[in-house]
Formats: sequence, C-alpha cells, structure tokens
Amino acid sequence: MVEQSRHDDILVLTIHNPPVNAFSPGVPEGLKAGLSAAAADDRIAAVVLIGGGRTFVAGADIKTFGLPREQAPDLRGTVQQLDAFPKPTVAALHGTALGGGLELALACSYRVAVPDARLGLPEVKLGVLPGAGGTQRLPRVVGAQKALDMMLSGAPIQATEAKELGLVDDLIEGGLLEGALAFARRVAAVRPLPRISERAVDGGSPEVFAAAREAIKKTHRGQLSPSLIIDLAEMAVNRPFEEGWQAEAQKFMEARESPQSRGLRHLFFTERESAKIPGLGKDTPLLDIRRVGVIGAGTMGGGIAMNFLNAGLPVTIVETTEEALDRGLGVIRRNYESSAKKGRLSADDVERRMALLTPSLDMGDLKDADLIIEAVFEDMGVKKDIFTRLDALAKDGAILATNTSTLDVNEIAAVTSRPEQVIGLHFFSPANVMKLLEIVRAENTSDTVLATCMALAKKIGKVGVVVGVCDGFVGNRMVHRYGEEARRLVDEGASPADVDAAMNALGLPMGPFQMTDMAGLDIGYAIRVHRARQRGEPEPDGWLDRIVKTGRKGQKTGGGIYDYDETRRPRPNADMQALIEAYRAEKGITPRSISADEITRRLTGTLINEGARILDEGIAQRAGDIDVIYIYGYGFPAYRGGPMHYAGEQGLQKVVDALKQYGHTPAPLLERLAREGKTFADFDRERANSSQK
Ligand code: CAA
Repeated sequence: MVEQSRHDDILVLTIHNPPVNAFSPGVPEGLKAGLSAAAADDRIAAVVLIGGGRTFVAGADIKTFGLPREQAPDLRGTVQQLDAFPKPTVAALHGTALGGGLELALACSYRVAVPDARLGLPEVKLGVLPGAGGTQRLPRVVGAQKALDMMLSGAPIQATEAKELGLVDDLIEGGLLEGALAFARRVAAVRPLPRISERAVDGGSPEVFAAAREAIKKTHRGQLSPSLIIDLAEMAVNRPFEEGWQAEAQKFMEARESPQSRGLRHLFFTERESAKIPGLGKDTPLLDIRRVGVIGAGTMGGGIAMNFLNAGLPVTIVETTEEALDRGLGVIRRNYESSAKKGRLSADDVERRMALLTPSLDMGDLKDADLIIEAVFEDMGVKKDIFTRLDALAKDGAILATNTSTLDVNEIAAVTSRPEQVIGLHFFSPANVMKLLEIVRAENTSDTVLATCMALAKKIGKVGVVVGVCDGFVGNRMVHRYGEEARRLVDEGASPADVDAAMNALGLPMGPFQMTDMAGLDIGYAIRVHRARQRGEPEPDGWLDRIVKTGRKGQKTGGGIYDYDETRRPRPNADMQALIEAYRAEKGITPRSISADEITRRLTGTLINEGARILDEGIAQRAGDIDVIYIYGYGFPAYRGGPMHYAGEQGLQKVVDALKQYGHTPAPLLERLAREGKTFADFDRERANSSQK
C-alpha cells in the first residue's frame, strides 16, 4: 500500500489505497516501515510523502471507526514518528488532504501543494474531531480563529489560501512529484527542523472561544463534537502541546463512541449508497440535457427553474397568463438579488442567470427542450391534459417529468405514447434551497431516463433518491402519518407547542405544527378533504380543520396554529387554544398531561412504522434511502442518522412496544426484525445480498 522509491538522496513514500487513499489498515505499517528505513539509511537526506492516484490521503478510514482502538490503523503513532523524525519530511498534496490526511501533513516538516488541492479537517461532519494532533497543530499554524472556523465548519480551503496562511510552504505549478523533490533538496540540510508542535498559537484570546461557544448553540444545536473541538483548541493556546495531544486522544474516543457519530457516519455511507440503483449498470447510457422547460411559474416552478439556471442550463418557463409569468419572473429575480445583497452572488451572476431564462405563454416553445418538468396545481385532470399536449409537441427522446407530490405517475404516463420517457421529479419547497429530490420511477420509466435524472440531480447540487409510485411516495407518505399522530396527541391533551417543543428537542428545526403553519394550513386541509371524498367519508372536522375554517392559514396570513411576529417566531394564540379545548369538550375527551418522551416515541414510532411498510412494499430500495430523504427533505437531525437508523439506536422492540401501547399496529417487517433482534441496516444488507444472487 505504500511504495518506496529512491530519487538520489530523497526517499519517496507513495500511498496507494484507492479510491481516496483513506488511512486503512496497511497504510500506517507501510509508512512506518518507510520512515524507519529512511532514518536508518545515511544516504537518505529527506523524505517526501505523496498520494498515488487522484488524491493525497482523504482521511482516516471511516469504515474502521467501529473497531476497538487497538485494531484501528495507527494514525497517531505514524504522526508521532513523523513529528520526531530526524530528517526533513515534505508532504506533497493534491486532490484532498482531509482529516487524518491533513494531520499527517501537519506532522511533516514542510507541506507543498498543487494550487487546486483542498485542505481541511471535516471530522465535525462525522460527529468526531481531529484525533491525530489536528486540534493542537492547526491553531499553531493558522491561528485560533481560523482553526476554529475550519474545524467547526469542516469546510476545506484551497491550497492558494493555505499558502497565504502559511499552512502550505510552496505551491507547485508543474508536476507535483518533481516540484516536491526539488523542494526537498532545497531544505535537506535545514536544522533545526521546523516542528509545528513547538510553536505557540496566535490570537487565542478568551473572547474568541466564548464567541465560538455562543455560535455553536445555533449552528450545531445539540451536538457533542463541536464543543469538544473548542475545548481542545483552547488547550492548544493555554497548555503544553503534549497535554493537548493526550486530551485530544481521549475526547476523540468519546466522540467516536457517541450515537451522534454513529448517526453521521451512517449518513455518510448511506448517502453514497443511495446514489446507486440496483440493476442499473454504470454503463447505462445517459441523455444529454441542454435545455430545460418548466411548466408553471409559481413558487415551485420558479424554484425548480432556478436550480437549472444556477447550473448554467437555459430554461424556458411557461405560464398561462402574462400576469402569472411576470409575477414568477419577479420572484426569481428578487431571490437572486437578495443572494447578491448577502454577497453570495455578484450582480453579473444575477444577470447571467436571468439571461438564461426565457418566459413564454406558449407550451409550443418547449419543443426543443431535452427535459420538461410540469409544476402546476396538484390535479390529475390538469396534469393529464398537460402530458397529452406535451406528448404531441415534445421532441423525440425528451424526458417528461412531473413534480407531483402525491399523484400516480403511472396514470400520468399512460396518457402519453412514450411512458418510458415519463418520470416523477419531486422537488421540496423552497425548491432552490432544499437538497432533496425524490426521483419517482414509474412502471415503464426507462433505465436511461432514470440514470440521466440521477446524474442531473448531482449536477444541480441535489441529493437524488429513487422511489416507487404510491400516494405521497416516501417522504409525504410518512409525514402524513406523522401529522395524524401529532393531531391525535393534541386531541388527547398535549398543546401544539408541547408537541413542537419535543421534536425541537430531538433536533428537528421545526415541529409538525410549525411546519404546518409554514406550508399553509389550507394545503393539508385540501388533501384531507380530497381523501375523505375519495373514501366516501364525512368532511374532516378535527381541531386543525376548524382552525383553517376561521381563515387562519398559517404564516402567510400572519397566523395559523400560532401567531407570528416579524421575526417569524411562533407564539401560542389564546383563541386557538380555546378552540382546541372546546373541541375536546365537544368530543368528551378529558385532556391528560403528555410527556415529551411519549410525544417523541409516538411521533418517531409512526414515522418508522410507515417507513417499514414503504420498505416492505419496495417503494424505497433501502432503509438508508428513507433516512436520506428524511434528513434532506424534512430536517430530521443528521446526527441521529434518520428515522430508520434512529429506530436501530433505540432497539426495534422498543419501537414496536410503543406503537402497540398507543394503539397502532406495527408493520409486519418491523415486527419481524424486532423479533429477530435485527435493525433496518441488517434488512438493507439482506436485500442487497438477495438482489446480487
Ligand atoms: N474512509 C472510508 N471510505 C471513504 C472515505 C474515508 N475517509 N472517504 C471516501 N470514502 C469512500 C466513499 O465511501 C466512496 O465509496 P464508494 O465508491 O464505495 O461509495 C469512495 O470513497 C469515493 O468517495 P466519494 O463518492 O465521496 O467521492 P468524491 O470524489 O465525491 O469525494 C472526498 C471524495 C472529498 C474525499 C469525500 O469522499 C469525502 O469527503 N470523504 C470523507 C473525508 C473525511 O471526512 N475525512 C476525515 C475522516 S475522519 C478522520 O480523519 C479522523 C481523524 O482525525 C483520526
């Protein structure tokens, strides 16, 4: 895994562990052997460390995080050997030097890099912290404030910036190895060797750490590792290196063993897994998408269009009236201008993006589009009419997509003569912001159309997850049950604020009722009315339906379940509370006090239960896909790994017991896994194995 090659008096150690040269078993052994050989050989004046293939070391091997400490690859030992090494060591960086990779480089005497290399300590994103000296060395190089910024955001910086900060000693413009060798020869005789561990930290006043502690209350609410990182960075300022180095080892293990880190690591792998579609080869041909059409310039259509404009793809947006078109375009422009005001875009960017947008009142203008996305009102008749017309006018090979969130994509596809070209692309509101894209594979959707949409999702910065056709697909089908249970909790005696507070405490930015107020109460009401009519049931008349009937529709009318001030913070409304109480009295319900624990168990339990059904029916391919959907589409805290992973952390039997206790029938799959002492991750493995056979 580590190749030794001599270049006159320089020994080059090349790390080969594709695809990203993670620090896996074998790498430390190879590096240590190379260093020992170089130390013992008088003919060697200096050592260069370099990555083979596309990158330097992208970090510790995350797959080994579950191993007992003694069996994990010895990154700290390697770093110590480098720090104490008697000859100059040069880390030659390209691709990414992340986490343990950057820590190796920080323990070398020097670092050189190609200008587009990226350097960072992203451990916080995995619920851990730099565990091989990063918390102690980075502040000693870039100062306390910048080190905190890098370690708390986890975002890498470009080598050019690293050079300005002194993190990189030289930028190499030509071949990296040749440049690194030349650099190593220049410094071969330097003594004493520069050691970062011997430096002091710049700018580490108590105020810097106090401000960081204050900031993470908002940016990393409820998370463990950010506060450990701040504590350790403060030690780098105030304590000898050795003390900080030892404390780091202990806190790293504490973070690594936490459920939060397990949740974030699960997300890391499951997100990558969800990009893979069983049965779809890597060589599936892709369609070339150069022009996009969007039908409907409302909130959804406008947001969808922005995604493509941002990626440099021209969009034709079609409306039925001049007024609606002008309004839609105005909203898009205002969104861009507000980003420009915040410094996220330049004025030129705004104009460039707007110039890619062609407004039209004529659907015929979509005849050259490679992808057409319909984003009109949620009505099957209207959608069928649009798809019939699209079938007649769209060019051969164009993808015809619907943004429906509930309707049957098979039924929509059936009105066309090319159902293999029809797919669901379910964006989440606000569509230009939310990262999730449910890609709805209908009965006849071709592999090429599916694979093209997955690739396109990546291109426009979305996390695409393939789902099957059913009412609400994955996300909305689950949230529907969740909403029902939340209303039941209020029926029984909880206040909406109690319910929301319990979910906020679990880590969701919004509880179910805050979410309802934001989405608009009338939307959910219309769906409930529609369902009741379909099933021949009486009109819905719960307490929430009664609130809608008072004309309060949520944030957009200044209030719904809650009142809102200009900061959009929800405040309970006494009249709505009275309405709920009157409702209970009318139904003969004696309200009882309901604990936050019961609220959490019931709400997560209903999500998990519906998730299990969805999984069993094959609507979702993997439990991990459901987790990705819930994290990116519904704000489930990433550090809890999504509802299905969270179920495993609780123990599935506990979920089953809670469902039964509160009058629900557990899904057969959930009951089976609980009985067998398994988790949904076990189920994913079972399904993957059986599909490979
Ligand atoms: N460990 C194990 N596997 C890893 C890995 C790691 N650190 N980083 C990437 N991989 C795997 C991915 O799972 C993926 O595997 P599959 O092909 O089987 O799905 C493969 O490498 C390629 O990864 P990506 O699809 O993400 O490729 P990319 O080109 O889009 O991104 C990357 C490359 C920027 C390096 C990205 O993979 C990444 O951010 N990796 C994580 C880096 C990280 O967090 N490092 C810190 C680790 S913690 C640490 O180092 C702790 C410590 O201090 C001791």
